[in-house]
Amino acid sequence: MATGMLHSHTLFVVLFTLIYLIKTILLLSDRDELLEKFKKKTKVAERVVSFGFLATGIFLITQLPHSPFPTLMYIKIALVLLSIPLAVIGFKKKNKVLATLSFFLIVVSFSLAYKAKAAKAGDKIIALSGKEIFEQKCMLCHGNDGKLGVGGAKDLSVTQLQHSGIVDIITNGKNTMAAYKETLTSEQIEAVASYIETDLKGK
Ligand code: HEC
Repeated sequence: MATGMLHSHTLFVVLFTLIYLIKTILLLSDRDELLEKFKKKTKVAERVVSFGFLATGIFLITQLPHSPFPTLMYIKIALVLLSIPLAVIGFKKKNKVLATLSFFLIVVSFSLAYKAKAAKAGDKIIALSGKEIFEQKCMLCHGNDGKLGVGGAKDLSVTQLQHSGIVDIITNGKNTMAAYKETLTSEQIEAVASYIETDLKGK
């Protein structure tokens, strides 16, 4: 449902931007007559597109993932809300600066939406499970069961350390084991520590 909405929203945004691109070009090139004609011809289409754009946008805002409401999204919504009155006044008064500024704001908010999406894709890497992190970063020395002991790596199945001790060694490293505070987030360190405790310790 939300994905379909997102696609319709993107479609409405693209159509909306296209209409405004043409209008802005006509305004900037002083083709007043053509602009009036274009405005008349696209009047209904523009209303439908604007309504669709806002309605799907509002729906998507209500569907946003719980806490924390992404900052980029706030900026984007503010830019869109700012660009609407600018466009209305700009085209009514045939003010080229306002019309261009408004078009520019729409394009900027468009690219912000893509940035936000890219950031979301990045989250997936952070969302790796403790097991996956262990397999990628730790198995080389500790083995998949924690017992391999490469280069003096401690046998994790017999570790006497409590949770905080495990977290501390992963975070800060010890002797030949590197610190992971730069390469893993604290959530990832927690996850891999819990994996050691539940799946390797005592097995
Ligand atoms: C380059 C090899 C190497 C890699 C990779 C490595 N370790 Fe280690 N690990 C060691 C060595 C060596 C020790 C023993 C350090 C000491 O006590 O001198 C150790 C110790 C530990 C200990 C302490 C065990 C105990 O009972 O004292 C934990 C917990 C641990 N590693 C977890 C991890 C985790 C989790 C990862 C992956 C994020 C990881 N290690 C990656 C080599 C490695």
